[in-house]
Amino acid sequence: MTQRTVLITGCSSGIGAAAAARLVAAGWDVWATARRPETLAGLADAGCRTLALDVTDEPSMTSAVATVRDASGRIDALVNNAGYSQSGALESLDVADVRRQFETNVFGLLRLTQARAARDARTTLRADRQHRLHGRQSSPFPAAAPTTPASTPSKPSPTRCATRSPASASGWC
Ligand SMILES: NC(=O)c1ccc[n+]([C@@H]2O[C@H](COP(=O)([O-])OP(=O)(O)OC[C@H]3O[C@@H](n4cnc5c(N)ncnc54)[C@H](OP(=O)(O)O)[C@@H]3O)[C@@H](O)[C@H]2O)c1
Repeated sequence: MTQRTVLITGCSSGIGAAAAARLVAAGWDVWATARRPETLAGLADAGCRTLALDVTDEPSMTSAVATVRDASGRIDALVNNAGYSQSGALESLDVADVRRQFETNVFGLLRLTQARAARDARTTLRADRQHRLHGRQSSPFPAAAPTTPASTPSKPSPTRCATRSPASASGWC
């Protein structure tokens, strides 16, 4: 069976690091990425390939996608994990801080998903109609309102998105 390739964002810690370790152990070709690639040494030792990737930086995203395509020839799955929460009631937060969070949690995953899809759009995503856009979110997202935690409105439906090929749609590992 052809080895499947996955690109994961935010692998310096937490869920991203755990997902990378789990998938490489299951035989995937794993590209673990982080803003600070020096944080990925443990995952490199475990067999992951590592790259710098900041989801708020356009050249960083296009360069990472191109590197993975050139080396692996394909990206079967994209795990948009990078993100962060921000505590506090909406009415008390600095708008600039909320914009920064949306740049990471929402527009970061949107742009990276588009960059990943760019070359495949005509040949696979649209042609075979079998690719999946799969989202997971941690909590319901009521409309922004006073006292709503700021992390809530930045985690709408596109959050936790991954594009998956038919080959991987039956399960991760
Ligand atoms: N754990 C939970 O209970 C929970 C609940 C709800 C949602 N989530 C979401 O699940 C995801 C992972 O959470 P976690 O608990 O594993 O948190 P975590 O350990 O803090 O990991 C977040 C990762 O995102 C990275 N990141 C932040 N901004 C980035 C950027 N601009 N470009 C690239 N990477 C960036 C961080 O990198 P740096 O080291 O460079 O900061 C880190 O690797 C996050 O999106 C989080 O919001 C988690």
